[in-house]
Amino acid sequence: MQRPPVLVTGGAGYIGSHAVLALVDRGWPVCVIDNLVTGFRFAVPEGVTLYEGDIEDAALLARIFAEQQIGAIMHFAGSVVVPESVENPLKYYGNNTAKTRALIEAAVKAGVPHFIFSSTAATYGIPEVSPVTEDSPKQPINPYGMSKLMTEFMLADTARAHPMNYCALRYFNVAGADPQARTGQSTAGATHLIKVAVEAALGKRESVGVFGTDFDTPDGTGVRDYIHVTDLAEAHVLALEALVAEPTRSLTMNCGYGRGFSVLEVLDAVDRVTNRTIDRRLQGRRAGDPDALISDNSRIKSTLPWVPRYADLDVIVGHALAWERKLGEIRGEG
Ligand SMILES: NC(=O)c1ccc[n+]([C@@H]2O[C@H](COP(=O)([O-])OP(=O)(O)OC[C@H]3O[C@@H](n4cnc5c(N)ncnc54)[C@H](O)[C@@H]3O)[C@@H](O)[C@H]2O)c1
Repeated sequence: MQRPPVLVTGGAGYIGSHAVLALVDRGWPVCVIDNLVTGFRFAVPEGVTLYEGDIEDAALLARIFAEQQIGAIMHFAGSVVVPESVENPLKYYGNNTAKTRALIEAAVKAGVPHFIFSSTAATYGIPEVSPVTEDSPKQPINPYGMSKLMTEFMLADTARAHPMNYCALRYFNVAGADPQARTGQSTAGATHLIKVAVEAALGKRESVGVFGTDFDTPDGTGVRDYIHVTDLAEAHVLALEALVAEPTRSLTMNCGYGRGFSVLEVLDAVDRVTNRTIDRRLQGRRAGDPDALISDNSRIKSTLPWVPRYADLDVIVGHALAWERKLGEIRGEG
């Protein structure tokens, strides 16, 4: 298969930096654009060009497309904190929707034929039926989810009007880190449960909040479908290969394992893997948290040759822990 250079937006961030590694590992030429608002220069591997800039900078994009002969875009850049999107919706419609529109426009102008987009299970809102299929109603309950759904609409219309195909991947709960600890989640004050729990296990936090103990689930805490970030990155590369192989077909697929763990099950796994007992603070529910959010992943499994390698919860936790330790060394923490 011909492997045109790929531009990874947000490639200095958590998921984008894993996608860069997955592309490099499979022999794809790669470069990154990132404005480093939440990303880190150290997350971009040596030998990969980092353009420090914004995805709405049309002149910079035109230069990158020409200089690097870009043949595909993997678009991770965005703002990702759901509660912040409720307080500051225009930031999300700006950074996630309007700036992605500018990026798509630049891509169309330059004739970039393939586009892969980080979408989210938040596009479903509170699903009535679980597991959730791609055809389930899309009813986001926050501006974050809506900003991503609007981007999916833009891509669908653009692919109908221009010679571009796209893949929207709707991620469930992304967790873990590169098995070789080359990158991981580095954002300070992150809110993802597994990240927060390993921080607590390493003494970087005092406790972990458990938000809601009266959900309609076996132990009363919320159930989520945690996907290892390296399996997710692999899915992106396979999706890209599918777009290249069939340039008139676009795809929208859930990314999850199709099974869920409760908050308490996750914390038990962290206790088990770290051999500590994390302090759990039982609190009330947060607004808008569904009982369970689990993917139906039959579409991605029947469309791509995707075989997850790191689905084991203890493995996910172990990799997150190894990265958290490495991050402590990078930052010179005790
Ligand atoms: N983490 C999850 O569980 C999850 C779930 C569903 C979807 N997603 C999506 O995956 C993508 C990546 O998320 P992440 O968790 O890696 O977040 P992240 O904050 O670690 O990464 C985002 C990256 O984009 C960069 N960026 C942001 N705005 C930019 C702009 N205007 N121009 C250039 N660079 C910009 C940031 O500096 C950062 O490096 C996001 O689009 C997010 O919505 C994440």
